[in-house]
Amino acid sequence: MRLLTAAVTSLALTLGAQAASAAPVEIKFSHVVAENTPKGQMATKFKELVDQRLAGKVEVKVYPNSQLFGDNKVLEAMLLGDVQMAAPALSKFQKYTKQLQVYDLPFLFQDMAAVDRFQQGPQGQELLGSLKTKGLVGLGYLHNGMKQLSASDPLRVPADANGKKFRIMTSDVLQAQFEAVDAVPLKKPFSEVFTLLQTKAIDGQENTWSNIYSKKFYEVQPYITESNHGVLDYLVVSSAEFWLSLDEDLRTEVKKALDEAIAYGNNIAAEKARADKQAIIDSKRSEVIEITAEERAQWVEAMKPVWKQFEGDIGKDVIDAAVAANQ
Ligand code: LMR
Repeated sequence: MRLLTAAVTSLALTLGAQAASAAPVEIKFSHVVAENTPKGQMATKFKELVDQRLAGKVEVKVYPNSQLFGDNKVLEAMLLGDVQMAAPALSKFQKYTKQLQVYDLPFLFQDMAAVDRFQQGPQGQELLGSLKTKGLVGLGYLHNGMKQLSASDPLRVPADANGKKFRIMTSDVLQAQFEAVDAVPLKKPFSEVFTLLQTKAIDGQENTWSNIYSKKFYEVQPYITESNHGVLDYLVVSSAEFWLSLDEDLRTEVKKALDEAIAYGNNIAAEKARADKQAIIDSKRSEVIEITAEERAQWVEAMKPVWKQFEGDIGKDVIDAAVAANQ
């Protein structure tokens, strides 16, 4: 009888274990932007592909608009296992690595094609692994686009920014960039930007066309200078603990879906930037200022010394490779 009880117990345990292992792996994907952005669309596409191909095995749940975690918390939450994937702006990894700061250097990349060439080249690929010792895995780059400067007053030359308060992401390079034009940078989460602008607690901010449009910053910022002074791109990340816990075949399938979703996001990013800029112009809520080559040269001259300031942290070879990607 005792033997029988033991056999039944062991069978029940086995079945229980099977039932447990049959539950789909949950991937919570947390991000801070609207759904109608390159990152929002990429996350939705990733979920769709996983639903189609890995139904019952993996379930992706996307949380946009800082619903689950704001950008200053998401990486900590990831290391604690509370979220499995995110794609913070490259400017938000400073606590974990200094090397990714290369992407914040003002006027480094002439356009998104140059950013792409650098990211796909050897140095760019190596940087994907720069978070390894911190328990994070870089799974791929995702584009948003070039940043523009929005403000409560017209900004044409660096002197126009003197004394003005600008919200920045948590990056010392971005801080130095604004200090270089005697402005006052303030590190604040993305979720607070609209209210800070609306209440005039700050005078301006820097962001891409799609973020300025989807978060309605243009409704509370009468001027946007088309400065294209820097890049805002993302690193799609997971924790090493979660990523390596996936069975190898499954991990390959998830990575394939992710790569396809990233390619999709990257393909729509340029067109989104163009369309959202046009929508802002059409709204007549904000004036888009085009600066002359001479005016632009003044911004470059004022901000470029920041490169030298961070050369030691980033590595001269990395900066040189980024410059070389411009041709
Ligand atoms: C920002 O904080 O301005 C951006 O990082 C938001 C985003 O993720 O595009």
